[in-house]
Amino acid sequence: MSQGEDRGQAKQRLFLGIDLGTSHTAVMSSRGKKFLLKSVVGYPKDVIGLKLLGRPYVVGDEAFDMRSYLDLRYPLQDGVLSEISERDVEVARHLLTHLVRTAEPEEGEDICAVIGVPARASAANKALLLKMAQEVVHTAMVVSEPFMVAYGLEKLVNAIVVDIGAGTTDICALKGTVPGPEDQVTLTKAGNYVDERLQNAILERHPELQMNLNVACAVKERFSFVGPAPEASVYEFRAAGKPVQRDVTDAVRIACEALMPDILESIETLLQSFQPECQAVALRNIIVAGGGSRIRGIAGYVQEKLRPYGVAEVTCVKDPTFDGCRGALRLAEELPPQYWRQLGDVTGS
Ligand SMILES: Nc1ncnc2c1ncn2[C@@H]1O[C@H](COP(=O)(O)OP(=O)(O)OP(=O)(O)O)[C@@H](O)[C@H]1O
Ligand SMILES: [Mg+2]
Repeated sequence: MSQGEDRGQAKQRLFLGIDLGTSHTAVMSSRGKKFLLKSVVGYPKDVIGLKLLGRPYVVGDEAFDMRSYLDLRYPLQDGVLSEISERDVEVARHLLTHLVRTAEPEEGEDICAVIGVPARASAANKALLLKMAQEVVHTAMVVSEPFMVAYGLEKLVNAIVVDIGAGTTDICALKGTVPGPEDQVTLTKAGNYVDERLQNAILERHPELQMNLNVACAVKERFSFVGPAPEASVYEFRAAGKPVQRDVTDAVRIACEALMPDILESIETLLQSFQPECQAVALRNIIVAGGGSRIRGIAGYVQEKLRPYGVAEVTCVKDPTFDGCRGALRLAEELPPQYWRQLGDVTGS
């Protein structure tokens, strides 16, 4: 597509790449708008809250900051929309509406969005998401999270993408075609699972510490590693209300490494699904994305464990926060919406 055509199109169409995550949602628009917010919606607990807030709900980090007088709702659980009640659906609708508004569409413009969801999100879940998207955008397509990462990095053939998020780890084999269900795996062990494991491992060794999942997550994000420890994980905790320092290096290793067996098993299974002559190339093209790619030593660890299969090359993406939605935006801009039906589930157009 030429520059001129590109500009001409951008006038009537606003393209959005949306990485709808369990913990955070990242958005990029074809007009250069880029933002990240917590995937959370807050509602006033009572009339006083409503007066303080001055509106029926508030979305993202702002909601989190006001959490003392708001009911916080996370519309995504394990990476997919919770569809238990009408209320849950409404929470997701509020989040989506807010995202689109924040992207500042212009009057009369068509909004075309590519939305990333976990690789194996159920058909019902995708349909629900599209139904909601239909209310706020003109054309929407849902694609798998690892596929949009791969698209953004131009790793579309003989590659494997591992996206370690908060709720899910999504693994996808890229074979030069739109990946089908047999090319993708979704594991429910990801960042949140590490937090739980870490909390338990710390409490087992140091029962006197006051622990919760927020503390465990903070320790993880500060010290996470697999394999040899790059430094001692010494953190200031609280015991009986007083600050105390503890070395939790072993607990951090155990919790982070707890993710690895399932990931390795899935990589090995997907690797075998490539044509035999392509397997050695795919092995040298493994990309780790998502917040979990920040775990120190993860590339070397996976590489080492795959040694029986040959020489593996594993790299971590440069920008785990935005690489997913950057890929989704690129897909939206490069492929005209009339082809979207070939790629994923679509509404509108
Ligand atoms: N330095 C770090 N080490 C380990 N984990 C980290 C680090 N920084 C962030 N994380 C974790 O990464 C996860 C968030 O990653 P990401 O933003 O990719 O998830 P998400 O897209 O919201 O979730 P999902 O893809 O499952 O819906 C959280 O569990 C967070 O604690
Ligand atoms: Mg994600």
